Amino acid sequence: MDRIKIVGGSRLEGVIPISGAKNAALPLMIASLLTSDRLTLKNVPNLADVALLARILRNHGVDHSIEGKRAGPALHLGETFHFTARDIVDTTAPYEMVSRMRASFWVLGPLIARMGQARVSLPGGCAIGTRPVDLHLQGLKALGADIEIDAGYVVAKAPKGLRGGRITFPKVSVGATHNVLLAAALAKGETVIENAAREPEVGDVAACLVKMGALIEGVGTSTLRIQGRDRLEGATHTVLPDRIETGTFAFAVAATGGNVVLEGTRRDLLDTALAVLEKTGAQVIDVPDGIRVSRSGDVIEPVSVETQPFPGFPTDLQAQLMALVTRAKGTSVIRETIFENRFMHVQELARLGADIQLNGDRASIRGVARLRGAPVMATDLRASVSLVIAALMAEGETTVNRVYHLDRGFERLEEKLSRCGAQIERISA
Ligand code: UD1
Repeated sequence: MDRIKIVGGSRLEGVIPISGAKNAALPLMIASLLTSDRLTLKNVPNLADVALLARILRNHGVDHSIEGKRAGPALHLGETFHFTARDIVDTTAPYEMVSRMRASFWVLGPLIARMGQARVSLPGGCAIGTRPVDLHLQGLKALGADIEIDAGYVVAKAPKGLRGGRITFPKVSVGATHNVLLAAALAKGETVIENAAREPEVGDVAACLVKMGALIEGVGTSTLRIQGRDRLEGATHTVLPDRIETGTFAFAVAATGGNVVLEGTRRDLLDTALAVLEKTGAQVIDVPDGIRVSRSGDVIEPVSVETQPFPGFPTDLQAQLMALVTRAKGTSVIRETIFENRFMHVQELARLGADIQLNGDRASIRGVARLRGAPVMATDLRASVSLVIAALMAEGETTVNRVYHLDRGFERLEEKLSRCGAQIERISA
């Protein structure tokens, strides 16, 4: 397995292009199951999760091709993928695939909507918690799917197709909202989703479904009203910028000091996170086609934050914020309300010298004067990038092991950071 070696202490200066959002690209790719026409997605990030999902979709009968090679400096323009699901040849999503990427469970709704049946493996646990799928099933049942669990699989049937329904989610779930939204676009009549996730990636999927022919009201609010269609058409859609990648690099700049333009992104995708960043003493200003993040002083101010569904502070930036405040002037408190057990990075940050006390869903981080490099281990996607941020601040050398987690969600991380002056390199296994 590859490792990443980082020598800390360099300030970041320069321009970092922001890629298309992984968490929008994945459900958008799944939307290709809803039509026999071609769905073209632009600005798709080149990530292991994207490649894996393309393989999973191919198993269902979705052909895909990637347009030409990219040249030149426009690193964030991403790739253009064409997907065509002329015939769905297999409505089973096997355990070997779904267990490797949770988001592939979201094929369930589109497969039932188009084929009247689906057999999709339960995803199983993962490093950041139990992550059940009860809300997905509840939502699809409300659209008329008959659902049973058999030998680790969700077996769903709707021989006459899905029909619109009303679902009030007892808890906000991004995945369950995607699953029901995708299915509702191809269901008969109107579906209303109450307490829907308001994440910008949900809005991006809704925008694509509208181009495909569905009528959707309430995008960006917690009530989505979807008029389904008997048939959806092909479309061309550009994936929105990755707000988590944006936030990650913004936190990295605040951690090392420096001045970096994050190009191709938008502040409104992560207002809350950037407001927190400003409280720590960094500056954020809008520039044409992006934002500029800088920190000149030496002091990082402590903050108190709890993770919340959008528009609150995202759980996917919790670990990165924690890395930043390990060196704050005082004690920060971070409460994780979305996932239990999403503190796997704490032990690894401690190896670098961080002083963190855990108490249930709450972490108290007492700022220390310095971190020191050490070998550390990545445990999940966002945790691993928090170790990179801590390593950039630490004195001496850090090696981050098991970096395949990073490759799942960050496009060319080392290249983007080293272009801005970080001493970071990949050591191939
Ligand atoms: C998505 C994101 C992930 C992000 C998370 C929360 C993608 C590919 N992944 O994950 O990066 O961290 O949103 O913003 O977009 N829950 C249930 N029952 C369900 C479904 C969820 O209890 O049926 C719970 C989960 O265990 C968790 C909470 O709801 O505690 C939120 O999970 P959810 O929003 O569904 O996360 P994902 O869609 O898996």
